[in-house]
Amino acid sequence: MASQLFATKPLNVIMAEAEDTGEFCLRRALGPVNLITLGIGAIIGAGIFVLTGQAAATAAGPAIVVSFILSGIICAFAGLCYAEFASLIPIAGSAYTYGYATLGEIFAWIIGWDLILEYAFGAATVASGWSGYFVSFLDDFGLHINPRWISTPGTQMVFYKGHWAALDSVQQSLATAGIDPATLPHAVGSFNLVAFLAIAVVTFILVVGIKESANFNSAIVIVKVAIVLVFIAIAGEFVLHHPSLAAANWHPFIPPNTGKFGHFGFSGVARGAAVIFFAYIGFDAVSTAAQEAKNPQRDMPIGILGSLVICTVLYILVSGLLTAMVPYTDLNVSAPVAIAIDATGVRWGSLLVKAGAVAGLGSVMLVMMLGQSRVFYSMSRDGLLPKWAGAIHPRFRTPWISSIVVGICVAIFASFIPIGDLAVLVNIGTLLAFVIVCAGVWILRRKRPDLPRPFKTPLVPLVPILGILTSLAAMLSLPSKTWWRLLIWLLIGLFVYAFYGRTHSKVRNAPPQ
Ligand code: ALA
Repeated sequence: MASQLFATKPLNVIMAEAEDTGEFCLRRALGPVNLITLGIGAIIGAGIFVLTGQAAATAAGPAIVVSFILSGIICAFAGLCYAEFASLIPIAGSAYTYGYATLGEIFAWIIGWDLILEYAFGAATVASGWSGYFVSFLDDFGLHINPRWISTPGTQMVFYKGHWAALDSVQQSLATAGIDPATLPHAVGSFNLVAFLAIAVVTFILVVGIKESANFNSAIVIVKVAIVLVFIAIAGEFVLHHPSLAAANWHPFIPPNTGKFGHFGFSGVARGAAVIFFAYIGFDAVSTAAQEAKNPQRDMPIGILGSLVICTVLYILVSGLLTAMVPYTDLNVSAPVAIAIDATGVRWGSLLVKAGAVAGLGSVMLVMMLGQSRVFYSMSRDGLLPKWAGAIHPRFRTPWISSIVVGICVAIFASFIPIGDLAVLVNIGTLLAFVIVCAGVWILRRKRPDLPRPFKTPLVPLVPILGILTSLAAMLSLPSKTWWRLLIWLLIGLFVYAFYGRTHSKVRNAPPQ
């Protein structure tokens, strides 16, 4: 029946599931500090370590700082809405369950399917970026991995400046240096084995336990935040001692538009914001750990908003300093933060940043895949995915089968699909999730104003409406091919729903109350 498509999952059932304890349930082991570190673990990664430089060099110039502020504002609206839901409905399904409770089953399915773009494809994107940093780190020690095993099939690789790099990424520097690529050693990528193995290790940690995963994550977060702070300290001192250089690099603050939308000028600042949005993705992943939090009502908002605020401040400082130290035109490289620190003359800086990126991106993969397996767990419990996807290991108390299946798929995406194609899909998928969560908060306030809300999004409906509009605006500034890919992905999802979820749904088949 068509009306069944919009069946909502009763809140009392969701709440009861959240309270479940026992051998076949997730373990409540995480406190507020674990949750903040989980958020930071997911947030600081390829976005700040790689994309910031590229976005400054090609879109926004020194005004990349403004792009970070704009993107931070979109995330703040969405973060406030996630915080209300995560404390009210502390369950592993995150946006998927919020959609089920408010908009109905078909929307819940769409959002669950869409979250695969954010979490599974997000982890694959980061694995791809990780392999780049890891290989370059080994190169610095003279250890070269066979180029066939460090890139996706068909990627043209050349040996330049002591390491193997994708021809596309070094073409510009080769042209500037007057080098003919044909004169360099060549290879063609077969399969990104490095990314594949990275995902295999992360999957193993996820299967072994939530506490182990959280501890592994916390250790990495300490290292990566320390490295970002060291960068800020070294860079801050350099800028204070070279104010005229910094002033020159920041002039013009918004470089004039080149005549093309998104290439500098105000449209460049907007394009920059849509690209570096990737750097913020991850604070929402905290909500997927709600069923493993000791006191989710209090700690979910702390985890989501705390990690977002800390990262926003760090990002604004890093991007401001980066463009003050180095002319923005020099930042279109795979390790812009390392280049900037080199400019200060601190020789160990570049190695330190690479080490930070290798460790830091590891925790992003971990939290993204944790989120994905928890969403599948929730969907399976509702009957929309097969039972095995929700099976909990009796000893480790983790959704082990779903973690392994997610691990295999992510490893395959990461080793076969180029990073650029993955990243834009992740951005559009995440922004769509934000739209639905913001709408859900507003709808539930109207439908169930009586519910006790441990955390209330301020100024409803203004904040959710601004969240929806700003997320939609960012989606619109992404290329049209990304929209097509999103639509095709959602259509595939609707087929899966029509042939499986629709007939197995527990909510549809529940006896009338
Ligand atoms: N925010 C995460 C990163 O930048 C996804 O890697």
